[in-house]
Amino acid sequence: MPEPIIIHHNFERADAQHDAPHTAPKPRHVVESQQFTVPLLMELFDRSRLMERVVARGGTLDYQNRIMASLFYSPSMRTRFSFEAAMFRLGGRVLSTEQASAFSSEINEEEVEDSIRILSGYSDVIVIRHHAADGAKRAAQVSTVPVINAGDGNGGQHPTQALLDLYTIYRERPINGLSVAFIGELDKGRTARSLAYLLAKFERVKIFFVSPPELQMKPDILAYLEEHDVRYELESDLQRVIGEADVVYQTRIHPDRVHDRDRTLGRFAIDSAMVQRMKPDALIMHPLPRTAELDKSVDDDPRALYFRQAKNGLFVRMALLTMLLEGS
Ligand code: CP
Repeated sequence: MPEPIIIHHNFERADAQHDAPHTAPKPRHVVESQQFTVPLLMELFDRSRLMERVVARGGTLDYQNRIMASLFYSPSMRTRFSFEAAMFRLGGRVLSTEQASAFSSEINEEEVEDSIRILSGYSDVIVIRHHAADGAKRAAQVSTVPVINAGDGNGGQHPTQALLDLYTIYRERPINGLSVAFIGELDKGRTARSLAYLLAKFERVKIFFVSPPELQMKPDILAYLEEHDVRYELESDLQRVIGEADVVYQTRIHPDRVHDRDRTLGRFAIDSAMVQRMKPDALIMHPLPRTAELDKSVDDDPRALYFRQAKNGLFVRMALLTMLLEGS
């Protein structure tokens, strides 16, 4: 019989990348990536490492009296299932809907504030994916329990995706000094937006935003990077920068948003030929789901991390739930 793992332990530890001990103030809600400081990220990653061991042993019952409400106004596979699996692995229970817009029998879509007021009476933490870019923020403003943004709006944020993305990178190599290429439809790409905010917390990071000019990263992110002295380049030629990136972060482009669709989509796609031009130790990432922008021929390349990246979502979301539930 393996020894049980005690989750409620002191997470204070000096990290190889950051010497400060991990005793960062905890957020009440998780709405946007900017909330996270480097010490808080390091504590979250310590916990995520521990959760890898907890899952390997089948989970824990530590949170058996806790309930997570999973309130999704738009579809999700990875985020919803990994949050729900996370809560089950912690021993907790889950209330769930992927059709929150049709929540009431009386009206088409109850105001998010009213739904949250109701659900905070039934649960200990609420995970919400809302179609408005301020949906999670509005939820947090009225909730009496922690709220976690599971992706909001078009061009909003997806902070827990960014946390698992960064954890995936952190498991492979130091984040300081990395060059990262974000590729795809970046103006509306909530995963790229959220991860750019997190990368700005680290030193000597360089970012390439690679996109058709009409879909380039929005000025709010660029202004944030400038404020934090992060070097970036706007690029429309993937071939020019693909060999310089330590992390290649591919995202989808909606075909209806580009002119000369086949040619444009082809120019930003990653296939076996494009992989040949990457650094030998590049990390190839994608938040998934994918379409033609990431060819299946790349899957067997040892640099392809995207399925491991999705699996890391379980550990990071378990860690986040423990952090928020301990503080509530
Ligand atoms: N990466 C991501 O958010 O996937 P889902 O839409 O399936 O949750």
